[in-house]
Amino acid sequence: MAVTRLRNIKGPHATEIERKIKRGNTLRQASWWRGYRGLAALLLVVLCTCAGAGLLLHLSSLDSDITETLVRQRELVSPQPRAYGVPCSEDYDNYKRYPGCTPQKCGRVVTDGVVTREEALASILDLHSGALSMGKQFVNIYRWEGVSVSNVRGRIQAAIAEAFGLDPELMYLTKPTFFSRINSTAARTQHDEYWHPHIDKVTYGSFDYTSLLYLSDYGSDFTGGRFIFMDHNANRTVEPRTGRVSFFSSGSENLHRVEKVTWGTRYAITVSFTCDPEHAISDPALP
Ligand SMILES: *[C@@H]1O[C@H](CO)[C@@H](O)[C@H](O)[C@H]1NC(C)=O
Ligand SMILES: *[C@@H]1O[C@H](CO)[C@@H](O)[C@H](O)[C@H]1NC(C)=O
Repeated sequence: MAVTRLRNIKGPHATEIERKIKRGNTLRQASWWRGYRGLAALLLVVLCTCAGAGLLLHLSSLDSDITETLVRQRELVSPQPRAYGVPCSEDYDNYKRYPGCTPQKCGRVVTDGVVTREEALASILDLHSGALSMGKQFVNIYRWEGVSVSNVRGRIQAAIAEAFGLDPELMYLTKPTFFSRINSTAARTQHDEYWHPHIDKVTYGSFDYTSLLYLSDYGSDFTGGRFIFMDHNANRTVEPRTGRVSFFSSGSENLHRVEKVTWGTRYAITVSFTCDPEHAISDPALP
């Protein structure tokens, strides 16, 4: 505006007026600039604060102790499972040995080729339709028909037998076999504190093989909640993926924990097997 007006000034005082106006403009521009500078600085501070908070939030949702990711959520491990061998611990020596079942090879295996995404999602639907009552964080599922309808349990059993060279006929379902739903709300009882490191065979003597069937996705359905194998030299994680099955020998060679869930809800089913027929529980397929 000022510039347009300036062009219209004519006569002897024009240059002086021009100078004044120009000076005024310069001053105004300078003060605008100062104001702008102030605003820019403010914006920068706001941006930095947001970025900092975002980074903190991001970092707090990450577990800095994780040193290696075995399988990412986005990867599809199919049809061949991915296996990681580890030397067996001596835990099994304290129990009667059952040839063809008791672990002689130990390790961890991950596969996305045993249970389809659809089957996993159907399990969640069963849950929400009231087929299961979810009053607690952990629900016992031995009487849950959903597991047996498509013989998910049988397929997991076969996959474990194949990976560890066992006779599937000599493996028995044992308890606890349960459904877990974990969100960021703190667990109320010690039992529910899933993030503590533990060894399944120490906690439940009858366990020989533990399997986990994931029903939701790390990263999109929840954050945190990664499964972590705690080895002497590394913390190795498996990122949950809907339909992913992860299984491992239950002794101290597979000390593990689950990272705290920081956002969303993590659904999983734990299916446990024993070699000891005395600890067998009835098949969910045959109530
Ligand atoms: C977690 O689940 C419990 C049980 O359903 C619910 O009461 C609680 O509000 C949930 N927390 C969050 C953060 O969604
Ligand atoms: C693994 O994580 C635990 C805690 O979660 C930590 O104390 C330990 O130092 C980590 N181990 C390695 C090798 O980073």
